[in-house]
Amino acid sequence: MGLSWLKMFGVEMRVVLVYFMYFCVPSLGRSEITDPSQVAALQAIKASFIDPSNNLISWNRGDPCKSMWIGIKCFNTSSSDNFLHIQQVQLMNLNLSGKLAPEFGQLVHLEILDVMWNNISGSIPKEMGNLKSLVTLLLNGNQLSGSLPDELGYLFNLNRLQIDENEISGPLPNSFKNLINMQHLHMNNNSISGQIPPDICRLPKLVHFLLDNNNLSGHLAPEFSESKTLLIIQLDNNNFIGSSIPSSYGKIKTLVKLDEYS
Ligand SMILES: *[C@@H]1O[C@H](CO)[C@@H](O)[C@H](O)[C@H]1NC(C)=O
Ligand SMILES: *[C@@H]1O[C@H](CO)[C@@H](O)[C@H](O)[C@H]1NC(C)=O
Ligand SMILES: *[C@@H]1O[C@H](CO)[C@@H](O)[C@H](O)[C@H]1NC(C)=O
Ligand SMILES: *[C@@H]1O[C@H](CO)[C@@H](O)[C@H](O)[C@H]1NC(C)=O
Ligand SMILES: *[C@@H]1O[C@H](CO)[C@@H](O)[C@H](O)[C@H]1NC(C)=O
Repeated sequence: MGLSWLKMFGVEMRVVLVYFMYFCVPSLGRSEITDPSQVAALQAIKASFIDPSNNLISWNRGDPCKSMWIGIKCFNTSSSDNFLHIQQVQLMNLNLSGKLAPEFGQLVHLEILDVMWNNISGSIPKEMGNLKSLVTLLLNGNQLSGSLPDELGYLFNLNRLQIDENEISGPLPNSFKNLINMQHLHMNNNSISGQIPPDICRLPKLVHFLLDNNNLSGHLAPEFSESKTLLIIQLDNNNFIGSSIPSSYGKIKTLVKLDEYS
């Protein structure tokens, strides 16, 4: 009597335990897949690229975080929503052409986005302004055109922005003054025009400011001389007024390289 009651109790405990593990500790079962909205975004991103060398063939199978899609790195642990999230997209030098899909903006946990040295054309999608965790954005060495979206100026965690060697035109957005963590701003060899917004000179952590070989005009902002962090300024081959660098630039104590301009 007593024994079978204990047995029944044991069985029931096991059932309760299984229920508990299934519903209350989801990391043991349900969580080991990538957030479906991020999977859909990657599929749209692939569809928007032209990939003549089939370098993205691994993106046709399984789950991005579990099946080792080339160039994809994920956070190891699932987050509070019980899905895995994409941390990095690194697709450098894969002979990709086509365009950057607006769906990049759905990879909301992304910290590193690197598509440098490909042949990607079209414009920079303004949706990239959704990537609030982004620290590194490398788009250099492509054929990107159009102007820089204002939205990039609201990526407060961005530390490195490389857009050099593209065909970007239009002005430097004023919103870039908000990039308070920016250290490396590389935008040389484009067709960027207009004046350098003076507030950009006050970015508190700026180390490299490369804007040579563009179509900038107006006067060079004397504000640069207040920087305590700048190591390299390159502004040669633009259309600035005047023929010499403001003498105040000589006061920038940290400076190791200042290119001439004409
Ligand atoms: C790069 O793509 C072009 C076609 O767009 C192709 O002709 C060429 O062979 C590819 N290069 C490599 C290294 O796969
Ligand atoms: C994630 O995995 C890497 C190695 O694959 C390891 O070095 C790192 O500590 C892990 N991070 C966490 C939070 O588990
Ligand atoms: C891709 O760009 C490289 C230079 O970056 C160039 O040599 C190559 O011909 C381009 N390929 C295509 C298919 O446009
Ligand atoms: C930038 O443009 C200049 C002038 O056309 C050219 O001499 C230089 O090689 C370019 N730099 C790079 C890194 O392509
Ligand atoms: C540079 O800007 C001037 C106007 O300031 C324009 O006339 C010229 O076409 C631009 N050049 C290039 C290469 O974009």
